[in-house]
Amino acid sequence: MSSHLEVIPDEDVGREREIEENLDYADPLRHLMHGADDFSDDDVPHTDATVLPAQRPSILGDTITLTFPNPVAHVGVAPIKVRLKVDASPGCGGMHWPAGQTLGNYLAWRGASALTGRTVVELGAGTGLVGFVAGALGGDVLITDQAPLLPLMRENTALNGLEDRVKVAELNWGEPLPAELQKKVDMVLAADCVYFEPAFPLLVQTLVDLVHGDTEVLFCYKKRRKADKRFFNLLKKHFTWSEVADDPARPIYNKDAISLFRLHRRH
Ligand SMILES: C[S@@+](CC[C@H](N)C(=O)[O-])C[C@H]1O[C@@H](n2cnc3c(N)ncnc32)[C@H](O)[C@@H]1O
Repeated sequence: MSSHLEVIPDEDVGREREIEENLDYADPLRHLMHGADDFSDDDVPHTDATVLPAQRPSILGDTITLTFPNPVAHVGVAPIKVRLKVDASPGCGGMHWPAGQTLGNYLAWRGASALTGRTVVELGAGTGLVGFVAGALGGDVLITDQAPLLPLMRENTALNGLEDRVKVAELNWGEPLPAELQKKVDMVLAADCVYFEPAFPLLVQTLVDLVHGDTEVLFCYKKRRKADKRFFNLLKKHFTWSEVADDPARPIYNKDAISLFRLHRRH
């Protein structure tokens, strides 16, 4: 009996990737809108028809209040309330995302001793929620994102009365760091930033530019697509990572395909 092994020529793989990337450029949210349908049985199952986080439709001027940390897993910790204007019109970052909430919960649970007086940068901050938790805990925070998100981030900073602790700056991944970041950073935060394949090498480049020596990097990620592996293949050239082990909420968010990693720069 002969077995037939189908060999896909390199040029076909390249063509398929090019088509995928063009579709990504046309609609960066397409994988989030239509569900993570390219997981095999071995991968984490998704039951949601869409993987966009459920939240109320955005109403002009409407705000939501989120409480950190998660009271189920982090019992007995004084809660931090964050008010957010959510508005999807400037892009997906105008909504709050599950990995952002997970990272915010962890920071709030660790408490002020891990943040007071430390310089913190958040990448792809969106509404700014993770940075606001860091600022409320005493961090000296710069929340960054692309230009269309900056007005919403500034509005939300004021809404939380955090203008003294939290500053806003444009940072497009892969581009030179802005003036505010030409100094040592103690902590880098990133949540739900792996979803748009053409941006994978850019995000890795920015992490390389920002992270030196003992910079602590907390990287919260929700697995959605097999293609996310390509991000981690690029990342591993410069970083190793380990799951944050001390978070009591970990069994809860792991069930939802969310992981919280600490990244370590390779030497
Ligand atoms: C899925 S949202 C997550 C927002 C927020 N971190 C949270 O967890 O709620 C991804 C964010 O990454 C930002 N982003 C995407 N590509 C980017 C790039 N090339 N440079 C900078 N930010 C980018 C988006 O604007 C968006 O705010």
